[in-house]
Amino acid sequence: MARTTSPAEELLYNPCEAEIISVADLTPDEKLFSLRMTDNRPLGHLPGQFVQLSIPGYTEAPISVASSPTRTGFFDLAIRRAGTLTAEMHRKVPGDTVGIRGPFGSSFDLTAFQGKDLLLISGGCGLAPLRSLIQYCQDCRDEFARVAVIYGARNPDALLFKNDLAEWRNSPAFDCSVTVDNVSGGDCFYGSVGLLPALIPPLEVIPKNTIAVVVGPPPMYRAVIEELKKKGMASSRILLSLERQMRCGVGKCGHCTIEHLYCCTDGPVFRLDQVEGVRGAI
Ligand SMILES: Cc1cc2nc3c(=O)[nH]c(=O)nc-3n(C[C@H](O)[C@H](O)[C@H](O)COP(=O)(O)OP(=O)(O)OC[C@H]3O[C@@H](n4cnc5c(N)ncnc54)[C@H](O)[C@@H]3O)c2cc1C
Ligand code: FES
Repeated sequence: MARTTSPAEELLYNPCEAEIISVADLTPDEKLFSLRMTDNRPLGHLPGQFVQLSIPGYTEAPISVASSPTRTGFFDLAIRRAGTLTAEMHRKVPGDTVGIRGPFGSSFDLTAFQGKDLLLISGGCGLAPLRSLIQYCQDCRDEFARVAVIYGARNPDALLFKNDLAEWRNSPAFDCSVTVDNVSGGDCFYGSVGLLPALIPPLEVIPKNTIAVVVGPPPMYRAVIEELKKKGMASSRILLSLERQMRCGVGKCGHCTIEHLYCCTDGPVFRLDQVEGVRGAI
């Protein structure tokens, strides 16, 4: 029978086996999985990219890589229990195997970041893809000027990566601010209380030397972008990571399109000026 895909294409379509090395609870709904490819090859990702995670009988889903390529021998996935596949993933234990395709999608342009002030802003689950970039900044600190990490969640229980946040807050390498929308009586919390966009006005921003990266839920994008614009930031200096429902992950099925853009191959990382005129993008 005639071959319909080349060997290179098959690498895009066929999941490779990865072993779960460790599992840790992040919140009641999110777990952090460390994995390694069972053939020991590096995943080969860049910050901002995603993989297609699969479990036989439980379909496939795009998941951002949550660790930096500078941390070798493993890669991290932070997974929220949302539906069929992710619920099954939450039942997995170290030693179990899963399928991985990718890495796929656009990444943060680390060359363009060199020598710049970075504003790394995330809300909720958005810290997962951003953690890859933050760890990269930690490991290659000399490549960048000032680095500010700004993170917001609904409440203290919903904060992802609490250990990392504590480390970043205590690190001289970063300026790290954390806020939650609200706290209740018994909560022990060290950050500020209020909506994330309120952390932007007090920042000292030099628009011509700053790149802002924003990852989070859609309502957060609008408010954060408005505050960044008030600081004089041009759209070409604001990067976003957009999530859409995906199937193939490689630009073939059309499930992830936003007008002419394919979220899986043109994105998930976009410059704001690429998407601000595109209906339904933000
Ligand atoms: C580029 C990218 C990166 C992602 N990174 C992560 C990550 O790091 N961690 C993580 O937990 N999840 C991530 N997701 C979301 C994850 O892929 C979906 O939640 C996925 O549907 C889960 O599969 P499931 O079979 O468990 O849930 P499903 O059974 O598919 O459904 C769960 C529910 O979520 C809805 N849904 C499905 N996909 C999306 C989507 N993209 N956006 C909004 N709602 C959706 C469905 O309509 C349904 O209501 C990412 C998505 C994209 C596109
Ligand atoms: S997910 Fe199939 S084209 Fe993007």
